[in-house]
Amino acid sequence: MSTEPSGVVVVGSINADLVVTLERHPQPGETLLGRTMTVMPGGKGANQAVAAAKLGARTVMIGAVGQDTYTEIALSGLHDAGVDTGAVQRVAGISTGVAIVEVDDDGENTIVVIPGANAEVTPELVAASSQVIADAAVLVLQGEIPAASVTAAVGVARGRVIINLAPVITLDRSTLLQADPLVVNEHEGALVLEQLTGSASGASEPSVASDHAATARALVDCGFASVVMTLGGSGALLASATDLLEIPAPKVPVVDTTGAGDAFTGALAARLSAGDSLPDAVRVAVLVGAYAVGTEGAQPSYPSLDDPLPAAPETTADSLTGARSFTGQDPAA
Ligand code: RIB
Repeated sequence: MSTEPSGVVVVGSINADLVVTLERHPQPGETLLGRTMTVMPGGKGANQAVAAAKLGARTVMIGAVGQDTYTEIALSGLHDAGVDTGAVQRVAGISTGVAIVEVDDDGENTIVVIPGANAEVTPELVAASSQVIADAAVLVLQGEIPAASVTAAVGVARGRVIINLAPVITLDRSTLLQADPLVVNEHEGALVLEQLTGSASGASEPSVASDHAATARALVDCGFASVVMTLGGSGALLASATDLLEIPAPKVPVVDTTGAGDAFTGALAARLSAGDSLPDAVRVAVLVGAYAVGTEGAQPSYPSLDDPLPAAPETTADSLTGARSFTGQDPAA
């Protein structure tokens, strides 16, 4: 593994995705015929690392795989993208993480993850890479490894910490609040808020629960320096103590949404490590997420630096991607 300081360090999951395409998702108890089955590299951590590396960030992956049929396919995207995998442990006697991904004709997916070796991303494994983590400009974490390992990684970080709490796991409050930003979709955001406040809206009025902006603001009120809420085809919200930005996504044909959120988070990390302000990084991440829904799979759908991103919507107050500030002022970078 390289000893040079890294732009982006991802501590997280590495999977092989068994991607099944089918007309529609089955009901409980129903058997359907699918169309195709393809095995691809995946895992939220690996996806984010690949997305960051393809956008030019020097990227290190810290994680674990088994020694089985799926090991090489799970690592292949990381290798192809030039991610440093020297800190990825190959654990004997356990299977590589696997995800069963079903994608219907509307591009919507369901995903079942068998963690396998991702459960072996222990605090000790993290501690073995503490210098690399400390040197990272941006550390990226998700919810597919043990919570204690997320805490261990955040504990040694000296750079910016992005926590994409997908899926939502229970982290201790002080660890979670180190996220700047916390990246969640609207469902995850409501769950995190419930964890922190006991209420899905953070307010006494139940109707506020449907208001994404209110949820993002309520999360900031819990103590996050910044919160990015991804809204699928609608773009993203960026909330901080002083501001709230709505960043719309371009309208694009949707083939497969798998891993689009990971492309977003990886792009965010890459741009932050390159020195962008947080609003500028979110603007690029929205376009990268839109690009990623255009082809099948997670990592194979991510853009490289040479790939033209979709144009930002025109309703914009701003020439880069169209951020609209509710208060007329960008949040602090
Ligand atoms: O976010 C998409 C990813 O979730 C897939 O690649 C799958 O492996 C699961 O981790």
